[in-house]
Amino acid sequence: MNTGRTSAGPMSAEPAGRGRGGGTRAVAIRARGLTRRFGAVVAVDGLDLDVRTGEVYGFLGPNGSGKSTTLRMLCGLLRPSAGEIEVLGHRIPREAEALKRRLGYMTQKFALYDDLAVTENLGFVAAVHGLDRAAAHSRVEELLARYQLTEQRDQLAGTLSGGQKQRLALAAAVLHRPPLLLLDEPTSAVDPQSRRDFWDALFELADAGATLLVSTHYMDEAERCHRLAILDRGRLVAEGSPRDLLDALPGCTFLVEGASPRAAQHALTGAPGVLSTAQIGASLRVLTDRRDATAEALQRQLAEAGLDAAVRATTSNLEDVFVHATRPGREAAA
Ligand SMILES: Nc1ncnc2c1ncn2[C@@H]1O[C@H](COP(=O)(O)OP(=O)(O)O)[C@@H](O)[C@H]1O
Ligand SMILES: [Mg+2]
Repeated sequence: MNTGRTSAGPMSAEPAGRGRGGGTRAVAIRARGLTRRFGAVVAVDGLDLDVRTGEVYGFLGPNGSGKSTTLRMLCGLLRPSAGEIEVLGHRIPREAEALKRRLGYMTQKFALYDDLAVTENLGFVAAVHGLDRAAAHSRVEELLARYQLTEQRDQLAGTLSGGQKQRLALAAAVLHRPPLLLLDEPTSAVDPQSRRDFWDALFELADAGATLLVSTHYMDEAERCHRLAILDRGRLVAEGSPRDLLDALPGCTFLVEGASPRAAQHALTGAPGVLSTAQIGASLRVLTDRRDATAEALQRQLAEAGLDAAVRATTSNLEDVFVHATRPGREAAA
């Protein structure tokens, strides 16, 4: 991958992170044209990615959008079909071995031993990282306390609750104090309170200086990231801070209530100015493409379809950003 290019190549040695906003923070992860095919399936399609040191960066996308495949390539566990990757200054996959010592990776599926106790699992991970007995013992005790697993220390990992398992997996991933953590849907199997606790733990790591790349399909988690990428069928369709993404929405959002959401959706889909609609509970969210679109105009359109509904403007949220970024026909419109 060392092409000997002297300037302006996508992986050139320009000071990292100098692009947007004139910040000087280094880039922890940089990928260009990252692509992975499985037979005829293009799981990841020409992804460009810059994750800055110290940020909590989110990958938001539905199942099958390429989140796990991307993370596996960034770790060096899966070879790209095309593209270039640099993680903490290491060219991947060539220098994956050197990266291992500086990277924590939490897989989507629980990857520890169900039939080992909590302390045995952590002791095993410590041995893999080459800690001696004394260092391993004190680090494991520290992690048990920090991740509230002291009471479960002798329990088999397979018998832990969903939240406890995720805390154990996080403890294992950070045992060697890596400056970079890749977490693949770490909260998909846990209850809401455990999800919040888990995110508190993630921010504690970020506050201590770690860089985190976290995939999720939860909007509330995406909202907490410093920046995020929205993935759809292997492509990066939107990127920025939650605030930037909201500000970049081309129109405004309305809420239709009091009529069947499906009937309202039918009446408004394809109507002039309507970009997308999404049913949320008993109401319909409507994103319009004109900042000056009015509730009255939508109400008239609904009335023409024989629907008596209340329409009001509402604050746009990441759900709207997501629906807009992944709407059918987006490529044709672009
Ligand atoms: N080992 C594999 N063999 C064949 N297809 C795969 C493999 N891994 C992933 N895929 C396909 O690649 C696409 C992206 O999958 P994945 O990265 O797991 O998405 P996500 O993590 O966002 O759910 C899907 O269509 C999936 O079926
Ligand atoms: Mg996945």
